Amino acid sequence: MNHNLAHGDRVLSGMRPTGRLHLGHYHGVLRNWIDLQESHDCFFFVADWHALTTAYEDRGVISRSVWDMVVDWLACGVNPNLATLFIQSRVTEHAELHLLLSMIAPLGWLERVPTYKDQIEQLRERDLATYGFLGYPVLQSADILIYGASGVPVGEDQVSHVELTRELARRFNHLFGREPGFEEKAESAIGKMGKKQGKLYRELRRRFQEAGDSEALEEGQALLEAQQNLTMADRARLAGYLEGGGRSVLTEPEALLTRAARMPGLDGRKMSKSYGNTISLREPDAEIEQKIRTMPTDPARVRRDDPGDPEKCPVFDLHRIYSDESTKTWVRSGCQSAGIGCLECKRPLIESVQAEVAPIRQRAEELEADQDHVRQVIQDGCERARGVARETMDEVRSAIGLDYRQR
Ligand code: TRP
Ligand code: SF4
Repeated sequence: MNHNLAHGDRVLSGMRPTGRLHLGHYHGVLRNWIDLQESHDCFFFVADWHALTTAYEDRGVISRSVWDMVVDWLACGVNPNLATLFIQSRVTEHAELHLLLSMIAPLGWLERVPTYKDQIEQLRERDLATYGFLGYPVLQSADILIYGASGVPVGEDQVSHVELTRELARRFNHLFGREPGFEEKAESAIGKMGKKQGKLYRELRRRFQEAGDSEALEEGQALLEAQQNLTMADRARLAGYLEGGGRSVLTEPEALLTRAARMPGLDGRKMSKSYGNTISLREPDAEIEQKIRTMPTDPARVRRDDPGDPEKCPVFDLHRIYSDESTKTWVRSGCQSAGIGCLECKRPLIESVQAEVAPIRQRAEELEADQDHVRQVIQDGCERARGVARETMDEVRSAIGLDYRQR
């Protein structure tokens, strides 16, 4: 994955609870999360409000899926000691930011988001001519901006939402970022950095502003990142002050495009619930065997002694994911010469998939038996998330001028 994130930068992503997780989620999303949690400050959440924008008439699936999903995350190795796991609707601050962003979200921007018309087309049986559905990417922007996330791991289809988030952040900062007394506040924040660091900050700022030295800018930004005793607000001020602008209240995030880990399903199409071609993360061994045994193969191999072409076979797509070079070579030559039968070809695959799913299924069973632990993980995560979200909202309210109580 290519990106400009530094170690420890905040990363945020969400998943809608719309059904059981399957190997497509594991290979396409979760393995990536599990990597990221090692090196970044990760926030992962269940986007139940987002699910509601399309499933408001059929909410059963949401409530059924929320906890299953958390269990599956944990079973796969998402680690609550490394990442903050929470449920969107339990951090109601997202709704407030969504509302405030909606004030400045131009209708034209929202109508032009490609997923908007696509989804209305695709989900014709549902009435998506709602205010909430139009606002789907505004809610997503709120999710991201409320944590000041720098990186957002998403698939291709979601990149336009991260772009909209950047545009909304920029618009917000432009409209509301010029607080009264900005310079004084920035100067007093420098004071909080301590003598040495404060001096270094001033020096870097001077080098950037007088000579346009971009290295000094980068160094200055890194210096701010490393300031443990600055509030988020002060850091935002000093980031703006460094560049010579006003305070940037909201941080523009970057999409971390999950490299097209397109997990093939049982029929050669992308693995997806709507195609009914999935293997779930809790699939029993016998079902895995049954599903792979009955997979379609190269249609030219009608009889055992007809030669086949792995390039035309969905089974081989799975070998590409699960098998090493020598197995793939064995498949290629055995298939093309009709030296092996299709069931023989499927055997190592059945074993690899079983070996991958079995420990996940087993941990999921253990977690199912220990619901208290799962609830505790989410409670702790929600609390931590709320703490960050509240800090941002204080800044946001004060930037807009809605902080009557504090004046
Ligand atoms: N819209 C995302 C999806 O369908 C889910 C989501 C909601 C999300 N909020 C988010 C993803 C914030 C990343 C960041 O996959
Ligand atoms: Fe597909 Fe394997 Fe059969 Fe060839 S031998 S058609 S690759 S299942």
